[in-house]
Amino acid sequence: MSEVQFSKTTNRMSELVKSFDKDSFKSLTKEMTLSEYVDLVYQVPALVRTAYQRLYDMIMSYGTAPVTRYKKTYTWYKFFGDATVGSPIYGLEEPLDELVQVIRGGAGGYGTERRLILLRGPVGSAKSSICSLIKSGLEKYTKTEAGQIYTYKWVNLDKVPGLNFTATDPCPMHDDPVKLLPEDLRVKIELDLNENQHSAHEKAIKQARLEGKDPRDIPAPHKVTLRSGLNPKCQYYWDKLMEHYEGDWEKMITTHISVYRFQFSESKRIGIGTFQPKDEKNQDATELTGDINYMLLSKYGNDSDPRAFSYDGEFQVAHRGVCEFIEILKLAKEFLYDVLGATQERKIKPKKFAQMDIDEVLLSHTNAPEYDKMQSDKTMEALRDRTIVINIPYQLEWSKELKILNRDYGDGKVPQHIAPHTLEIAALWGVTTRLAPDPDNQIGKVDKAKLYDGRNLPNWTEESVKEMRSRFKNEGLERGISPRFIQNAISNCLVKNRRYINPFMVLGEIEDKLKTCSTVTDEQSREDYAKDLLAVKKELEEILKNEVQRAIVGSDAAIVAVFTMYIDNVFAYIDGTKVKNPYTQDDMEPDEKMMRSIEEKIDVPESQVDDYRRSIAGHVGRAAKEGKKFEWNTNARLSRALEKKLFEETRETVNISKLGKGAHVANPEIQDRIDAVKSRLIKEYGYNEESAQDVIDYVSSIFSRGDSK
Ligand SMILES: Nc1ncnc2c1ncn2[C@@H]1O[C@H](COP(=O)(O)OP(=O)(O)O)[C@@H](O)[C@H]1O
Ligand SMILES: [Mg+2]
Repeated sequence: MSEVQFSKTTNRMSELVKSFDKDSFKSLTKEMTLSEYVDLVYQVPALVRTAYQRLYDMIMSYGTAPVTRYKKTYTWYKFFGDATVGSPIYGLEEPLDELVQVIRGGAGGYGTERRLILLRGPVGSAKSSICSLIKSGLEKYTKTEAGQIYTYKWVNLDKVPGLNFTATDPCPMHDDPVKLLPEDLRVKIELDLNENQHSAHEKAIKQARLEGKDPRDIPAPHKVTLRSGLNPKCQYYWDKLMEHYEGDWEKMITTHISVYRFQFSESKRIGIGTFQPKDEKNQDATELTGDINYMLLSKYGNDSDPRAFSYDGEFQVAHRGVCEFIEILKLAKEFLYDVLGATQERKIKPKKFAQMDIDEVLLSHTNAPEYDKMQSDKTMEALRDRTIVINIPYQLEWSKELKILNRDYGDGKVPQHIAPHTLEIAALWGVTTRLAPDPDNQIGKVDKAKLYDGRNLPNWTEESVKEMRSRFKNEGLERGISPRFIQNAISNCLVKNRRYINPFMVLGEIEDKLKTCSTVTDEQSREDYAKDLLAVKKELEEILKNEVQRAIVGSDAAIVAVFTMYIDNVFAYIDGTKVKNPYTQDDMEPDEKMMRSIEEKIDVPESQVDDYRRSIAGHVGRAAKEGKKFEWNTNARLSRALEKKLFEETRETVNISKLGKGAHVANPEIQDRIDAVKSRLIKEYGYNEESAQDVIDYVSSIFSRGDSK
């Protein structure tokens, strides 16, 4: 056996230790006395904020940006798109705006803090993702300066006979240390802090006015409320010790209280609770509200002794933070009453035990079918009444659905090569399944998906798209495939193909899965989704034909030249001026024949030439005014025309149908051309050797069938 050689020169551990931040550890676990803490609270009133205020501040700490959709402006909360927190959410600006408004209402104490927030939507619409983001956002926030949070432990308990068998005992609900102050002192602090904050705010507004800034940009301070009481165990110690010290409260807290900073942690069950109902028979209320600790019971001998209780129900765990209820409507009815009490009264009442105050954001979600069941159930009226429902629809924007897939598979996330358009086309199918068919058959779903994604199509304006969207209010909520289905299809493909995957493989996988998939329950939907798949395949054909055509034509430079020439001529035509001949520099009349040869490619009739050219000139002018550049591919229809025109010119020299499989055997000369096209597809369009060959074979098979002009 050879001996392991230890190098004396490197010591990995000491290198690693150097990068460990000792100071951060110290600051995260900082300890102090209650009196120091009260001083700190006067400096930083945010320390005593409510759960809703904390959540709201956390979200706002990431900043906001306005988004405009159909001339209406929403606020985008950057938090939801921040990849450092968790899996980012794309789109959903409106429902997330709505959600944050509810949270803001709760932070302001306007009543929404006494409601249950219920995210409702189809399976896979990001409800769970939104909840996990919020949960990890809060965890992270409590590690920051702005989000610091404190609690306390009892110490020296063994110095007082009969009080407890351990010397220290932490507050079991991680409560705020100010709760240890007698109520009249707390009320005094509350008044002081609100008064201080109010005058600081007034001052800031005055200052803003002086500086000519909008005073509305200065956020109003949160109102401080310190009325709720201690949990039963701490109340027990408090009472006993007050007795022991004969009412000398100050002596009690200086001897027995140590304040410390802590952080929320879902895995340690601090500040973040998650409840998922099991099957009806196995549901147990103690999971929500805590239980007698039988081991401690044997020590204290009384099952209503507050020291013999485990404060580990999800409600206690989530105190000061957030409690997520997964599939809340699967919860047995008798437990829903606990949830109701928790929302409305902000109190919980464990069986045979004292009631306790809680302060937390109750965030639940449910799939649409369960929700509909609740709607028709009379006995659920009380719950409905205390619930704020926020609809979370499926993504209906193609490019955002694509972002979801790119997040998971794009940018080298998987070792395999993913051919261009693979994820794009899967995303398109996903979106089309969610769209309502047009009752007048005016527009196909693929085109509708393009419009919803903000692309231009002839005869459609922003106004008419908005009108169409408003006609289908429930789009995204009622039908369609979940992103998870698509994710599964792509992963299956990746498992089966270890070198690369292309759009055909994914669409094939989708087609297979669709036939057997159990989440699609009715045959009509299955048929509809299959039809959508056909439409998407057609679109793919268009995209690939285009791409191969462009690769044959050559670089973008050629198309830019045609584009520039066309635009120059259009302006000359409208202004009644001349154009310079690029070769001779002579002034010439606009080249009508050239312009028509392009316009004919997209069926602009002679009678509409004037309108069409003016609209193009208008687009160019508007782009310039907005400081944007109008390029050859800015307007989808025009770029199509340019491509067709250019392709036609080259087509005569390169016969595409001969480029496919086996062509080089018949004619070795063709091999050179195939290689040229292929290498362009690889270099400029992101294909690899195999996927490029696939596309060439596919497109040439279409052309040799002669069904494409
Ligand atoms: N708008 C969206 N933005 C980002 N990811 C999304 C979006 N919609 C769905 N997803 C993704 O789809 C998958 C299913 O989402 P999930 O949150 O589990 O759905 P739900 O809880 O609504 O059933 C996850 O991978 C999620 O990230
Ligand atoms: Mg879910």
